[in-house]
Amino acid sequence: MEIAHALNRIPSSYIREILAAASDKNVISLAGGLPDEQTFPIELMKPALERLSQMPEVFQYGATAGYGPLIQHLCERFALPETHTVMMATGSQQGLDLIARAYINPGDRVVMEAPSYLGAMQVFGLAQAEIVGVSQNEQGPDLAELELCFKTQTPKMFYAVPDFHNPTGVCWSLETRKQVAKLCYQYDVTLIEDAPYRELRFTGTMLPMASEFCLDKAIVLRSFSKIASPGLRLGAVSGPRELIDPMVKVKQGADLHSSVPMQALLLGLLENSGFDQHIATIRALYQGRYQALFDALDAQLPSPCRVYPVDGGMFVWVELPSCDTFALAKSLLANGVAVVPSPVFYPNPNEASSALRLNFTNAQPEELVEAVSRLAQGLKQAIV
Ligand SMILES: Cc1ncc(COP(=O)(O)O)c(C=O)c1O
Repeated sequence: MEIAHALNRIPSSYIREILAAASDKNVISLAGGLPDEQTFPIELMKPALERLSQMPEVFQYGATAGYGPLIQHLCERFALPETHTVMMATGSQQGLDLIARAYINPGDRVVMEAPSYLGAMQVFGLAQAEIVGVSQNEQGPDLAELELCFKTQTPKMFYAVPDFHNPTGVCWSLETRKQVAKLCYQYDVTLIEDAPYRELRFTGTMLPMASEFCLDKAIVLRSFSKIASPGLRLGAVSGPRELIDPMVKVKQGADLHSSVPMQALLLGLLENSGFDQHIATIRALYQGRYQALFDALDAQLPSPCRVYPVDGGMFVWVELPSCDTFALAKSLLANGVAVVPSPVFYPNPNEASSALRLNFTNAQPEELVEAVSRLAQGLKQAIV
């Protein structure tokens, strides 16, 4: 049977392929975006897990928008105004898919920073959106370019990851957040703020979300994958009721609802008095790993390469002199270190500047240091 045309436009995920190769014991993987499974708060989930056995009602079919007590908890936690609501999704990835299916017609334009999150490009590609890339600097998107794009291309949405961007780790400045919100109002563009890494800040102070400056023109995606566990497959989508309601209709057709026992378990975890301490612990752990990686890179990267410091999240971005980054990633893999080459993160891979994404959350500091030795050695052979 012939596959759908939309699927033909989507390349298979390079990261999944490289992750398969990186499972070799001799390879240190900086390629994935995995939280450390030793941090999963299973102890904190135990009381809720036990309670589940006394709650047959959560094993019944449930409401499409999500488990009522959890929705109520999240509306309070996110301090949403009366006009806004939350719906639960099977990971924030499904939230993205529901947004695309509810709002994108083939040919509609979606703006995102280039480079951008691969999973978002896949979703909007499948919905046959035209993805328009806007370049990114250390403060966030290039605002002049963004305005020109809003003005001349009349996009429907701007998909953004303002806190610790995947893949670059960039965190938007406060001024950029305000300016983006202003542009969204001015040019009638809906902001899709994807915030899976927001809680993983280990330096500096948390900034307001960009969507806080354009509350009635934004949909927010939050994920419990990085602060609880990805296997729960739970994310939350919030925004004005009139923007969320059409997505509930799409979700009905997609999977009826996300797992109710898992939602009840998540609620128990969020209400556990130890949860804040859990987040503080993973922040400190990831900060130590980041520092080990960054210091080693700073000391060992050959001089034309540049690494940017980050204040949180899971990734750093290493800029390289112009080279074939796919060939480089392959030779690095043979040298025992897995990384992701920059073109996979660009809507148009031919426009990618040469860089590598490195993850620091799922390896021990000693492994990160050893990975950098292998990386530096490989880089010296390949490009210097
Ligand atoms: C920017 C971004 N958005 C969304 C997701 C998907 O997260 P979830 O596990 O909640 O589906 C990821 C996962 O890595 C991500 O990096």
